[in-house]
Amino acid sequence: MPAHPHPTVKIAVIGGSGLYNLEGLTHVTEVHPDTPWGKPSDAITIAKTASGLHIAFLARHGRGHYLTPSEVPARANIAALKALGVEAIIAFSAVGSLREELKPRDFVLPSQIIDRTKGIRPSTFFEDGLVAHAMFADPFSAVLEQVIWDQRGVIEGGDFHRQKTLICMEGPQFSTRAESHMYRSFGADLINMSVLPEAKLAREAEIAYQMICMSTDYDCWKEHEVAVTVEAVVANFKANSNNAQRLLAAILPGLEDVVENGKTLEGLKGSMRFACMTAPE
Ligand code: ADE
Repeated sequence: MPAHPHPTVKIAVIGGSGLYNLEGLTHVTEVHPDTPWGKPSDAITIAKTASGLHIAFLARHGRGHYLTPSEVPARANIAALKALGVEAIIAFSAVGSLREELKPRDFVLPSQIIDRTKGIRPSTFFEDGLVAHAMFADPFSAVLEQVIWDQRGVIEGGDFHRQKTLICMEGPQFSTRAESHMYRSFGADLINMSVLPEAKLAREAEIAYQMICMSTDYDCWKEHEVAVTVEAVVANFKANSNNAQRLLAAILPGLEDVVENGKTLEGLKGSMRFACMTAPE
């Protein structure tokens, strides 16, 4: 039996609402890992590009969308991807827009995060006697961001934006109008329920991470407009998922280049060694 029943996979895609599989790649295998933090959201699919690059895919909410954002086993998801050898994660998420210029069906690369989750999601690997404080001032990977931005021309029927602030709320209910206005006053541009703790755990696991936000609605801050409805969100994320598949196909060569040349891990590899506060035994 081979030491590893699956190939080493350095790049992973986490699919959000509306993105439950990878198209246009050759299916290699499906793995069902277990981790010290339990099982991931679903089986992890491993696929191969024409050039032989392996990609792991995990549906954040499960392929049947049965996990609420608060229920996503983020520690198991990140631990399972790390165990596969993953060094870079591209994470997709449906988001609400808090700005006029970020229209439904636009794509956005956030550069900052505001945490409005309620502290009920386990959000660190370091606890129970092992304390570490990861640097998180810049939560996303500038290297991955640039690879994606370079391919922004492939999406159809929407614009592409970068350098925006994403606020992460607990949910599963959407915001009240008062909250939506408050988030705008905080300086947030986008809202979702999924970037945390995923991005924090990826940082602790020394995995480069970039989220691609797909706008589905204007939340509920706009006067004289109906508040966000699930129907509107679902219609828009279907349209967005076609663009997401097109974008993924376009960024794969650039991703392969930066990962194979170790550019994604610059400043990240070994960083947690210096974040540990607990004295070695
Ligand atoms: N995901 C998609 N639209 C959203 C919204 N308006 N608020 C929070 N999460 C969302």
